[in-house]
Amino acid sequence: MYNAFFGFSESPFSLSPDPAFFYRSEQHEEALANLIYGVQARKGFIVLSGEVGTGKTTMLECLRDYLESQYIEFAFIFNSRISVEQFFEMIAYDLDLACTRTSKTEVLFALNELLMEQTQDGRTVVLIVDEAHNLEWEVLEEIRLLGNLENRNGKLLQIILAGQPELDRKLDAPNLRQLKQRIVLRCNLQPFTLRDAVEYMQSRLGRAGAPPEQNIFPEQLMAEIHLRSQGIPRVINALCDNLLLTAFAMETKVCTVEMLDEVCHDMRLEWPGSRRTRSRISDESYERTPY
Ligand SMILES: Nc1ncnc2c1ncn2[C@@H]1O[C@H](COP(=O)(O)OP(=O)(O)O)[C@@H](O)[C@H]1O
Ligand SMILES: [Mg+2]
Repeated sequence: MYNAFFGFSESPFSLSPDPAFFYRSEQHEEALANLIYGVQARKGFIVLSGEVGTGKTTMLECLRDYLESQYIEFAFIFNSRISVEQFFEMIAYDLDLACTRTSKTEVLFALNELLMEQTQDGRTVVLIVDEAHNLEWEVLEEIRLLGNLENRNGKLLQIILAGQPELDRKLDAPNLRQLKQRIVLRCNLQPFTLRDAVEYMQSRLGRAGAPPEQNIFPEQLMAEIHLRSQGIPRVINALCDNLLLTAFAMETKVCTVEMLDEVCHDMRLEWPGSRRTRSRISDESYERTPY
């Protein structure tokens, strides 16, 4: 909507997990390197955890690009509220297994065959499950069993479970002790630091075609966006997108803290100290009231 006005070739702050916009903060770089290492070294179970909106799905999309570039077979399960039957059906579909996809036994046979074949060719196969904190216990148990398949060179199936911090708590449950013991790599995504958040916004604006010395978001505004979003990329995107829309409506190419106030108010956004600020404002207006 505002792209032509600002001279962007595409929307800089879209909410889709597009790897083309991937910003490699130190921790994102490290987490992605860990995921790739875990797959290459056939480590078996890898867990990627992080609060809502910290970039887990985006990172998995980057991993998907890597796997495709290496011709590594993988199944990507992004809807985790599924039954055991649906789980096997999805695996069969993604890996294009030639079998009756609704029969768990047949899927297991066909999967085993694929794993053997790929292992003989010196390759591995990957199972990625996003939103894994939502998985039913029965499905987690099936995943644990799949993780048992191995030969002398390592695990035949590399399993990546990504999810919110509840996932870690779920894996702490006594009935999942065996699965937990098998997790060899853990990656965690934390919210951005101020420096990362500033670079993140600049990299997205740059990717969308803004000149490097952009002044759409002045320094002080970016610091305020970092504070109010608490460094969560998804919230940063929502704030920035709304800011650009507001500036466009006001026909100006520079966003301001006043605009941010309005955007936060419309989004009903709360951040540490926001209530205090608001109650101070209402105290002041109370003092000003003549009654
Ligand atoms: N490192 C990053 N580089 C670019 N965009 C990111 C990054 N991390 C998060 N985002 C953006 O933040 C939003 C939320 O990310 P997402 O991967 O959906 O988070 P999660 O899966 O952890 O809830 C998306 O719009 C995504 O593009
Ligand atoms: Mg996600």
